[in-house]
Amino acid sequence: MASKKKFRLKKKFRRLILYIILIVIAVSFGINRYKLYKYHQTYEYKLLEVGYTEEVVDDLQDKLDDKQISKLIETDKIDYITEIIDQKYFLQKNFEAYLEYYEENSKKSFEDVIAIVNVGANKEWYTDTKDADTSKGYLILANKFNLLSEDFDAGNIKTFSSTYAYGEVSAEETCYFAFIEMADAAKKDGITLILTSGYRTYEKQETLYNDMLKSKGQTYADAYAARAGASEHETGLALDIFSYGETTDTFETTDTYAWLIEHCAEYGFILRYPNDKEYLTGYKPESWHYRYVGVETAKKIMEEGITFDEYYAYYIDK
Ligand code: DAL
Ligand code: ZN
Repeated sequence: MASKKKFRLKKKFRRLILYIILIVIAVSFGINRYKLYKYHQTYEYKLLEVGYTEEVVDDLQDKLDDKQISKLIETDKIDYITEIIDQKYFLQKNFEAYLEYYEENSKKSFEDVIAIVNVGANKEWYTDTKDADTSKGYLILANKFNLLSEDFDAGNIKTFSSTYAYGEVSAEETCYFAFIEMADAAKKDGITLILTSGYRTYEKQETLYNDMLKSKGQTYADAYAARAGASEHETGLALDIFSYGETTDTFETTDTYAWLIEHCAEYGFILRYPNDKEYLTGYKPESWHYRYVGVETAKKIMEEGITFDEYYAYYIDK
């Protein structure tokens, strides 16, 4: 009797165990299905479905925001996407503009696409302009897209003595003292730096541009002179530096120019319109035009080999 009872209990117990096992299996199956369902909702899964590799998907999730990723999910795979997002000066806010610009200019290098869009040169010069951000101090950007107002205050302006300048040339005081230090150091190396132009008022720049416009025509004028409001000479932070007897045509071949390229950053100056950068600066090369930005920034710009426009877009105006 007792053994029959025992057997029945054992049977019940076995059945209970079986039920528990079945429930566990069912629940874990359910959980897995749910997890899979959830995973299918993720950007990671959807990007993989579009055809990007795991490595690219990680990269995309690092570099883009949710809105940009959700757009990518609805678009065919972009084969060159890593060429864009892995560029050194890639800015997330410009992602769509890079793609758009590249689609229309697919012969350009990705590096150029990034630089052009960053500085705004994917638009016509002097279109879509805004007020120059005057809160940036020595890092203020005045160019064909960032304009100074007629009443911009360049701060304390000091006039150079004839030791340093040909005619009347002045500059904002920090730039003024930095130039004197540089010119004195150059002198010790047997190099004489002579200024021909520095601070200009809005009106003076207007006259200068209009005179060039009249004598040489619009294309030439815009390649060499800024329209009023667009010249960094109006900030008091730009200087045109020559050596005696040299002109804009010859200065690049001089020892003075070589000295400046080697040493200007030590005094906070950069070559502002370098060779082959017209597509970014909007100007033909000006071997004589230097801009004061402070030593740290000047060294970084000269080392990285970028224009101030690019530096500003990437490091200042993020
Ligand atoms: N020549 C430079 C671009 C200026 O006019 O400011
Ligand atoms: Zn100049």
